[in-house]
Amino acid sequence: MCGIVGYIGQDNALDYLINSLRVLEYRGYDSSGVAIYSPDGHIKIIKAKGKLNNLIELTARNPQKGKIGIGHTRWATQGIPSDINAHPHASSDSEVAIVHNGIINNFHELKEELIKNFKITFASDTDSEVIAHLLGLELKAGFSLKNSMLNIINKIKGSYALAAISKNDPNTIILTCHDAPIVIGIGKEKDLFCASDSAALLQYTDQIIRLKDRQVAELKLNGEYLVFDGKTQKQITPQIQVLNADPVSLDKAGYKHFLLKEINEQPAIIRKLLAHHVKDNLKIEFAELKPELLKDINRILICGCGTAFYAGMIGKLALETLAKIPVEIEFASELLAREILVDEKTLIIAISQSGETADTLLAVKTALKKGAKLLAITNRSDSTLSALAEGGNILIQAGIEVSVAATKSFTAQMLCLYLLAINLAEIHNSLPSEKLNWLKNELRYLPQIMEQTLARSETYREKILPYAQQKAFVFLGRNFNYPIALEGALKFKELTYIQTTGYAAGEMKHGPIATIDETTPTLSILLPGSTYHKTLHNCIEAKTRGAPSLGVIDDLDKSARQELDTVFEVPALPFSEEYKEFQDFFSPFISVLPLQLIAYYLAEHLGKDVDQPRNLAKSVTVE
Ligand code: M6R
Repeated sequence: MCGIVGYIGQDNALDYLINSLRVLEYRGYDSSGVAIYSPDGHIKIIKAKGKLNNLIELTARNPQKGKIGIGHTRWATQGIPSDINAHPHASSDSEVAIVHNGIINNFHELKEELIKNFKITFASDTDSEVIAHLLGLELKAGFSLKNSMLNIINKIKGSYALAAISKNDPNTIILTCHDAPIVIGIGKEKDLFCASDSAALLQYTDQIIRLKDRQVAELKLNGEYLVFDGKTQKQITPQIQVLNADPVSLDKAGYKHFLLKEINEQPAIIRKLLAHHVKDNLKIEFAELKPELLKDINRILICGCGTAFYAGMIGKLALETLAKIPVEIEFASELLAREILVDEKTLIIAISQSGETADTLLAVKTALKKGAKLLAITNRSDSTLSALAEGGNILIQAGIEVSVAATKSFTAQMLCLYLLAINLAEIHNSLPSEKLNWLKNELRYLPQIMEQTLARSETYREKILPYAQQKAFVFLGRNFNYPIALEGALKFKELTYIQTTGYAAGEMKHGPIATIDETTPTLSILLPGSTYHKTLHNCIEAKTRGAPSLGVIDDLDKSARQELDTVFEVPALPFSEEYKEFQDFFSPFISVLPLQLIAYYLAEHLGKDVDQPRNLAKSVTVE
């Protein structure tokens, strides 16, 4: 979604702003803009609808010199994507320019008041513009830029990360935030940066300060940075954090798209996570977790959105199978719609790649207020979620995920949940140690089998392309592969824009089968396990009604192969008669791979914007 960047230092601000905005492109946006404090004493604003290249062309035609600037990528919420609605926005007297992420809930009231009492004319349809006018009025009343910001945060309600520059206070960038992230980057040459996503700063510094809710920061041209508490207005000493993200994640490494690179990174990430958490004596360690976190709990509530939610669905199965603790799972947005029933014996597991998803953060905050314990599974140690879960973080260590469609974060989240399930089973003595040791040993085969599966990419591509003209797909699975059917369908629809629905295969006869005919190819996940035969029946029922039948099967399959029109074969997982109950336990790590790949290849073939699908944002920071 929207992104903020800023630079103040001795170099040309514009170059830094454009480079940083380039990094934030991955988050999804529909317009962009910059405001530069120019040596002639004016603030120059340049903005453009569409891709960042449009802005770059404009700035190349009209290059702006200046040491201080702020920039923005906008993902439209209030007001259509357009040049005018793009940020930065200025006050009527062009005294101040602001960039804003989030939503101002009381903007209608504020706008009415500004029009009625101050005869202000609005240039855009955005909620954000009220902030520029409010600041403009404070400055006119004689307040400094910092005090103006401290004053207006008592008037605006909603979520915001804000950066502002003013002619009135030309050597300063002012920042603040509430329920939306913003960080300060401390450069080496007394230059300072800011960004709503620290990925934008990786190229310049690894020293950051995360602003807390309603803090106000003043970044000065001489390299000084001051942080104030918004309530007491007193200066505070902020904590400097070292960024540990790998800048290599921001490189395509020779792949055509970030998505393909990230799909192929999965075996290495799983290998790294296993090495980190499973010690040579097969002991599982979560060194980052407070020991008391996993003790004395009688219930687990998992929440997340989108792909993170589907990883959670599989986590629920793993946790209940092994740790025998009742697990509920709910979309974060749905949790917010009702009373969240938790207490101090409830462990809430929040799953979020970005750690900045608004729904997830709000659900977590509500559960925390009611005394629940929090465990966060995230990819970003510098995120709001990670900060909320101090002593309760499991980092998925997947490296920055650039492609909007989540892939590597999904398998990494699943693995963390499996390891947690085994660890909880050990703590609660819910399964004999031989079984748990067998499972831990089996996990070690996963990276290799995942590699062997990915090596078949080209075959998967050839097999899916004949379906390029289909208008709708149905994906089916049961048990551990039901969430994979949902996740596979999500990848398929967000990348190809083809209507794709995932169902629990057993539900087909209860309604969805009415939609099935020769125009609805049905893809079933048919890996060995207790539900294989039932799923195969459902697949045949669809086939009988004319649906082209596709399936993910393993190399040893005999039955499904004969029934299906197209098979995506994966290597067979090791099987033990003694531990037959776990036969489909690990299959999601493998079955999801051909589904990610067919979505990618079909989208690419159809000429879709694979890394930044239309209408989507990488991190959904508004409710
Ligand atoms: O950053 P998060 O994991 O909290 O994001 C959750 C969803 O917005 C995300 O998984 C989304 O569904 C992806 N586009 C899926 O590919």
